[in-house]
Amino acid sequence: MTDPFYHPAENRYQQGMKYRRAGRSGIFLPEISLGLWHNFGDVDTLAGSKQKLHHAFDCGITHFDLANNYGPSNGSAEETFGQIMKSSFAPYRDELFISTKAGHDMWPGPYGTWGSRKSLMASIDQSLRRMNLEYVDIFYSHRYDPETPLEETMQALVDIVRQGKALYVGLSKYPYEAACRAYQYLREHDVPCLAYQGRYNLFNIEPEREHILELAHENGAGFIAFSPLAQGLLTNRYLNGIPEDSRIARGGFLKASALTPEVLARIQALNNIALRRGQTLAEMSLAWLLKDKLVTSVIVGASSVEQLDDNLKALQNTSFSEAELKEINEVLSK
Ligand SMILES: NC(=O)c1ccc[n+]([C@@H]2O[C@H](COP(=O)([O-])OP(=O)(O)OC[C@H]3O[C@@H](n4cnc5c(N)ncnc54)[C@H](OP(=O)(O)O)[C@@H]3O)[C@@H](O)[C@H]2O)c1
Repeated sequence: MTDPFYHPAENRYQQGMKYRRAGRSGIFLPEISLGLWHNFGDVDTLAGSKQKLHHAFDCGITHFDLANNYGPSNGSAEETFGQIMKSSFAPYRDELFISTKAGHDMWPGPYGTWGSRKSLMASIDQSLRRMNLEYVDIFYSHRYDPETPLEETMQALVDIVRQGKALYVGLSKYPYEAACRAYQYLREHDVPCLAYQGRYNLFNIEPEREHILELAHENGAGFIAFSPLAQGLLTNRYLNGIPEDSRIARGGFLKASALTPEVLARIQALNNIALRRGQTLAEMSLAWLLKDKLVTSVIVGASSVEQLDDNLKALQNTSFSEAELKEINEVLSK
């Protein structure tokens, strides 16, 4: 039941959030979006998840990024979101842009993973049920499946839109050649790709190097950067060791082995540049991505409202002097 006491901030669109057009579409996305990969599963408290989601919406974040397998456990981030959708956000559905994805391991057996029509069709239905939604705004193929014909995966995306279960579709982590073919297929079937999601941050400039950013632009798709803080490495989180409540300590994809002495030295050097700019390292890392107009939005993760607030401050200064950029490049090339 909708909570009669939930009222989002009336000035939520006057809090400094800016919105950028996704490629050549009609859609504007907030420069900072919130992702639910971590921190919203059934291992986290519902109260904490609610607090972060409410706060995000209060600050003008209209785009929430999910996937079938986000949690842990698999599916539980969508369930959390579904509960909050029902209790808080239902009256505001038209103000929200909600994404989900399928393609990584989700349920056991041969149909719960990769990019078959069977898998995508079942997954979107499950996601809608978990999230208490009639449709998602964008449905992504979460990763390129080299074994399934690309046409099968793309046609499933097209049909999901035709069935009214998603308004737009997107690609995530597709290599260059596969992305080229996917953009073309989707365009030729009148469901142009809205957005490409790729890992992009100061420590991983692959989308730049592999021309993925340009390719999205040429195909009229927006580019959305995920893990913009390298899962927390590009923040002050690990400057003085590994905090007990951090993503590394909690176990998962980010390992303590990522924190080599060389990486730590880079984090410290970048942190010094950020402090001179009057920013935290997290703020500077997000600003560095947003200086590029080809980036539509950065999807941050946050384990607290304080982190979210810090990240939002990045929007206050996204320009860099030549000297700052040179200094950052020098740190990264060491
Ligand atoms: N398409 C894909 O395949 C794909 C893959 C990965 C992610 N994504 C999307 O991208 C979203 C973001 O990914 P991510 O969680 O890796 O993003 P991230 O923003 O790089 O990392 C988030 C983590 O950084 C730390 N952090 C965030 N803000 C901070 C701040 N201001 N100060 C100090 N620490 C801060 C927190 O770590 P602690 O938990 O240690 O506090 C937080 O959990 C995901 O939720 C998902 O929606 C998509």
